[in-house]
Amino acid sequence: MKNFLSEMAVSHSPNTRWLGKQCQILPAVDSTNDLLKEMMQQGDADLLPNGFVLLTDYQRKGRGRLARRWDAPAGSSLLLSLLFRPGWPAAQANWLTMLVSLAAAEAIAAHTNLTVGLKWPNDVMVQHDNSWRKVSGILQEGGFDANGRLQWAIVGIGINVNIPAAQLPEGMTPPTSLLAATGQTVPRLPLLHTFLQRVEELYDEVGNGRSPRPLWQNKLITLGQPVRVTHHQTNQSFNGIAEATDEAGHLLVRDVSGKIHTVAAADVTLREK
Ligand code: BTN
Repeated sequence: MKNFLSEMAVSHSPNTRWLGKQCQILPAVDSTNDLLKEMMQQGDADLLPNGFVLLTDYQRKGRGRLARRWDAPAGSSLLLSLLFRPGWPAAQANWLTMLVSLAAAEAIAAHTNLTVGLKWPNDVMVQHDNSWRKVSGILQEGGFDANGRLQWAIVGIGINVNIPAAQLPEGMTPPTSLLAATGQTVPRLPLLHTFLQRVEELYDEVGNGRSPRPLWQNKLITLGQPVRVTHHQTNQSFNGIAEATDEAGHLLVRDVSGKIHTVAAADVTLREK
């Protein structure tokens, strides 16, 4: 497989104004989220501005949500972390995950013929073999200032691009890759550039007072579906219908008694109808 260092050397930089203009590309790291966090703790804030991107070809200890692993063969996928310094109110903290997952869905739709959707809260799904399968996941971490504003956030994203079907990692949500779903190799750089451009546009729209939620909610395959909600800390679960989201991105689930639960962080699986 080609590596990013050689692909980048023959390509143009993304057509963005600020996102990814400062970018570090490393052949292998433990985890781009962890390394970026270490760089922030040690480094000079000016060297790591809003929009800094850390990209790698291979992660030795890629992390998913809920302490899961995120694995991809070297050179097969998009594995990167984006640094933001939003200063947004805490109630808007999830907007970053919303706009990054929306941008990934739109970039995948632009570069393949796949039907793309989002599974709450952070999974990008494509239709493959008549079912929804996970092709990308997002891991957001951040810190708040004394006024409760989101001072910094690292948004890590993995997109399974050219992973052969036989090498797909196992996961609770059935996984796929763009190669497995389309039968074709998908060039990573054009996909990355479309993704970064769209993230930048959606982020700038927040600065102009526009929430990413309406566009994000439109793509949610979870709404209207029977779901099982599992809270990992308490190990409690219940069944219900996912009815809506609120402005903060929480999922509103109606249980069998008719009570609405506001679900902030949990695992949600779609149930058979
Ligand atoms: C999930 O679906 O559970 C989230 C997966 C997030 C994976 C990405 S890959 C780049 C970044 N570095 C990590 O260690 N994780 C994120």
